[in-house]
Amino acid sequence: MTFPQGETDASPLASGRAPGKIILFGEHAVVYGRPAIAAPVFRLQAEAVVYPDPEGVCRVEALDIGQQVMVATAGEDDPFARLVRLVCTALDRPLPPWRMVIRSEIPVASGLGSGAAVATAMARALLAAFGVEWSAAAVSALVYEVEKLHHGTPSGIDNTVIAYGRPVWFVRGQPPMPFAVGAALDLLIGDTGIASPTRLAVADVRRGWEADPSRFEALFDRIAAIVHEARTALAEGDRPRLGALMDANQEALAALGVSSPELERLCAAARAAGAWGAKLSGGGRGGNMIALVDPDRREPVTAALLAAGAHRVVHTTLTPTAQ
Ligand code: MEV
Repeated sequence: MTFPQGETDASPLASGRAPGKIILFGEHAVVYGRPAIAAPVFRLQAEAVVYPDPEGVCRVEALDIGQQVMVATAGEDDPFARLVRLVCTALDRPLPPWRMVIRSEIPVASGLGSGAAVATAMARALLAAFGVEWSAAAVSALVYEVEKLHHGTPSGIDNTVIAYGRPVWFVRGQPPMPFAVGAALDLLIGDTGIASPTRLAVADVRRGWEADPSRFEALFDRIAAIVHEARTALAEGDRPRLGALMDANQEALAALGVSSPELERLCAAARAAGAWGAKLSGGGRGGNMIALVDPDRREPVTAALLAAGAHRVVHTTLTPTAQ
C-alpha cells in the first residue's frame, strides 16, 4: 500500500500495519462463552503513518472515509481519539504534536475486522513513534477497549486474531490458543457489498437471547459442537468434513437471525460451483461470506460468486501448521 504523493512534505516518524480477519467458525456464540476459530487475512491491510504535525496539534486523518479528528476536542465516542488517548494514558505522555494518517483496504462494517485492524495499526504506529515495544497481548487488550465503541459487547476475538496475526482458537476471557492445520486450505471471501455494523447484529442476537434464552442457548451449544468438530477436521485437513461443518454453522447462524438473502445467495452459488461449504463470516446480515474450495475450483467459484452479486472476491490460504 502506498500513500498519495505530495500528501505531506514531512518524513514519517513511524508506521504500523495490521491485517483483516475472517471467522472460520463460531461467530456470535463466542460472545456467550463458546469457542470460535478465526484467522488473519494478510491480503487486506490497514496502515497508519505518524508525521510531525505542521500546526503542532494531535490529529488523525482517515483518508478513505475523508474524516479528520482533532484528538484534544473529539468526543469520548470517537474510536480514533479513544485509541490515541488510551496509548498516551498507558505511557503517561501528553498528546503528541503528531498527524496520524490512516488508510485501509478492509471495507468498513463488513465482518472483516476493519475497526480492530485500524486501531491495531494505529497503536503500533504510535508505540513505534514513542520508541516503545508492546507484546501482542498488550496491543490486543488496548484495542479491545476501542472495540467496545464499535461492538457494544465484543467477545474480543477480532482484536485478538488481528493483534496476534495468526489463526486462533478463542474463548472469551482466555488467552488465544493456536490449533493445528493439516493441509493448505483455500478460502474465497465474497463481499455482499452491504455494510452491516456488527454492533447491530450482536444487539439483535442479545434481544433474541433475552426473549427466548433456552432456544438461543441451544443454538449456541450447537455452534460450539460444530467448532469442536471443526478443530479436528482442520488438524486432519479434511475438506469435505470442514465444508459440511461450514454449512451446518451457516444454518445455525441463519436460525439466530443474522443471515440475509444476499449472504444465502452467495453461499448457494459457491456450493453449486463446487465449493466444499460456505457460511457468513463475522457479524452477518451483510458483509462477507467465506467458501472453502479446492485449488482447481478457485476460478469457477470466484466467477459464480461474482455472477451472484459479490462486489469483490478475495482469496486467502490457511497454511499447514503443527499445534
Ligand atoms: C465479529 O467479528 C464476531 C462476533 O462474534 C462479535 C464478537 O465476537 O465480538 C459477531
